Amino acid sequence: MTRRASSKVAEQKMFEKIQSGDPIEDASEMTPEYKEVLMHLLLMQADSELSGAYGYVPWIMRAPTVQEKLIVANIVKDEVRHAKAVFGLLADLGFDVQAHLDSQNLGARVSESDIGTKRAGTDMRVNIFYYPIETWTDFIMFNFCMDRGAGHQLGDVLTCSYGPWARVVQGIFEEEVTHIAHGDTWVKRLAQNPETHDECQEAFNKWYLRTLKIFGSDKSTKNELYRKLGLKKRTNSEVRNAFMAEVSQLATVCNLSMPGLYTPQTPVEHQK
Ligand SMILES: [Fe+2]
Ligand SMILES: [Fe+2]
Repeated sequence: MTRRASSKVAEQKMFEKIQSGDPIEDASEMTPEYKEVLMHLLLMQADSELSGAYGYVPWIMRAPTVQEKLIVANIVKDEVRHAKAVFGLLADLGFDVQAHLDSQNLGARVSESDIGTKRAGTDMRVNIFYYPIETWTDFIMFNFCMDRGAGHQLGDVLTCSYGPWARVVQGIFEEEVTHIAHGDTWVKRLAQNPETHDECQEAFNKWYLRTLKIFGSDKSTKNELYRKLGLKKRTNSEVRNAFMAEVSQLATVCNLSMPGLYTPQTPVEHQK
């Protein structure tokens, strides 16, 4: 058999595996395209996990109570662990993790309040991680919006075609659920207190809109390829819609308006 014919057979075998739901376990079973796309997705996740951890670090010192300092420290530990696990998958595929880390500045942040869908560095983090976390309410809203958005995305990875990634994400997903719960508890507290409600609403407006951008374009041809390779299950808009529906329900419970519907409260003088 010629080289071309044997690579066609290997490709067919790979797609048969993907279609039957049998996971791909190592590089020998992948086409070059599958490996390239998988490594791209893994690198996006690994860089996001580590830059996320770096953004949280100052909040160990700035968290309001000693109990909250411990919670933030644990979240930082979780995110570094997630990064280590996903970089480990990349290393197994021949990626030089150390050279990558040595050449990137994952602690860098932007000063603009809206960078749209722009990438602000040469690393591969999801671009929401370029924004700084400037207040405790930002930290909480990051848990509430971004961790929840990531949770929706990771939902697809749990049943993806690459077995080692699906297994690693199982543990990551469980920890992300605890970060989301931390955000929910605090958002309720801050939004239901008249003294902190408006600050909470402002932070919600900011982080919700930023989070919507993590899901990618509705017309993405990349997403089509990811689904063909079994590395994603749903379209970008399906994942975004699931996230939006969940947040919209929670916003009602928490006494927050969905961004776009909110008008800042002004004191009503004549009711004194
Ligand atoms: Fe994480
Ligand atoms: Fe998280």
